[in-house]
Amino acid sequence: MARLTVRTDRPIARIAPEIYGHFSEHLGRCIYEGLFVGEDSPIPNVNGMRRDVVEALREIHVPVLRWPGGCFADEYHWRDGIGPRGERRRMVNTHWGGVVEDNSFGTHEFMELCRQIGCEPYITMNVGSGTVQEMAEWVEYLTFDGESPLAGLRAANGRVEPWRLKYIGIGNENWGCGGSMRASYYADEYRRYQTYCRNFGDNRLYKIACGPSDGRTEWTETVMEIAGRYMHGLAMHYYTVPRSGENKGTATGFTRRDWYEVLARTLVMEEHIRSHLAVMDRYDPEHHVGLIVDEWGTWYQVEEGTNPGFLYQQNTQRDALVAAVNLNIFNKHADRIVMANLAQLVNVLQAVILTDGPRMLRTPTWHVYRLYRHHQGATLLESTVEAGMAGTDTAWPVPELSESVSRAADGSITITVANLSADSGQTLEIGLEGGELPGQLIEAAILEGSSDELDRHNTFTEPNRVQSADWSAAVRLQGAGLTTRLPAASVLLLRLK
Ligand code: AHR
Repeated sequence: MARLTVRTDRPIARIAPEIYGHFSEHLGRCIYEGLFVGEDSPIPNVNGMRRDVVEALREIHVPVLRWPGGCFADEYHWRDGIGPRGERRRMVNTHWGGVVEDNSFGTHEFMELCRQIGCEPYITMNVGSGTVQEMAEWVEYLTFDGESPLAGLRAANGRVEPWRLKYIGIGNENWGCGGSMRASYYADEYRRYQTYCRNFGDNRLYKIACGPSDGRTEWTETVMEIAGRYMHGLAMHYYTVPRSGENKGTATGFTRRDWYEVLARTLVMEEHIRSHLAVMDRYDPEHHVGLIVDEWGTWYQVEEGTNPGFLYQQNTQRDALVAAVNLNIFNKHADRIVMANLAQLVNVLQAVILTDGPRMLRTPTWHVYRLYRHHQGATLLESTVEAGMAGTDTAWPVPELSESVSRAADGSITITVANLSADSGQTLEIGLEGGELPGQLIEAAILEGSSDELDRHNTFTEPNRVQSADWSAAVRLQGAGLTTRLPAASVLLLRLK
């Protein structure tokens, strides 16, 4: 028996919808094939964007999409991706697989994709191999609303009106693939580059600096000290990478021990967030700078027979648990985390969608985003769980449960709980404290796992093997709370009003 207590009288902070953000890079089959197939493709599309994929993304209310990388961003020259498609420069994607990049997906296509999905665009600028002028001109091309050389070029390419662009990243992983810079050098470069990111008309840029990887607080320290007052957000990256074997481990066919290792490594996210926030607090006690978890997700060995530079991996119930745990962590830091972007949207790393030619499937991770979508823009409520530990006979013990709770503007309460145990289910008692009765159950749904098949996943022949199901028959409302079952390896959504 486990107990979850919700303090309905203790609101904490608004959960930024952007915590449910995503990332799309010119990497493998994410952009090409996964999102963009071109107008002439036999795959049904709208202006070149896959209709099936866009529909699936709209269902999970994607709030923001980051592009064009990743490591690709610091090699990307935006002028290669505008103008008539047939005349665009063909280049080599040196970072990811050495394949030809024909630049048929560029600025106009990305902004069109965001329009179709209904999300905010987030563009990462090239600091590593680009110039300040190139970056400044891209901002002008995108957002200038009067007569200017770049606005004229945009109009000549078919777009008269400026776009609205809020989120702008100044480089990516500049300590590594973005230029191998030292923190103090990057911080100075950041100050210089951001100076020329102008707010044209009523467009207001939200400037995001390259943050640390994992727990590297020395980067956070130096960048905050030198450049903290010139940024709106600082972007950290942390991936769940199983490392204790000979390699990164496989996405499917793993052991019970591997299940726990992946979840234990996921929970380290909490420590990293806390340690970076503690450093940021020293330089920014009034919390002007938001923390962004710009890239997160599982990173395994690629699927056998696929290009190692394409980072294509399957996605199982274990990945669903990783998503549930991370999203609960982000929700619980709603007062400081302003955005989080899963890597990556389609066909790369912990994707929400996989495609194979004309076929597509929603992964277990997609289903978690669907269950959790009610948290977007709601107010986090204080909650605690009393439960035991799981996997204690392995080197990777984890708490059995992870949870977060929020209240939406219409008064409804959303509770999401993940059972990290690969071994046993729980009876879960939920109590509301603060003088409020649960009212009615308006939704109960579960993404149910199984101890016997921890790597349950969807395939192109069985695309709906893993999907959420109604759970209301298993929920009993009583007094100021409710009781339900929570099977092993499962993710639960409850909504009350
Ligand atoms: O998501 C894949 C890569 O991981 C990104 O390009 C880079 O930023 C990170 O190292």
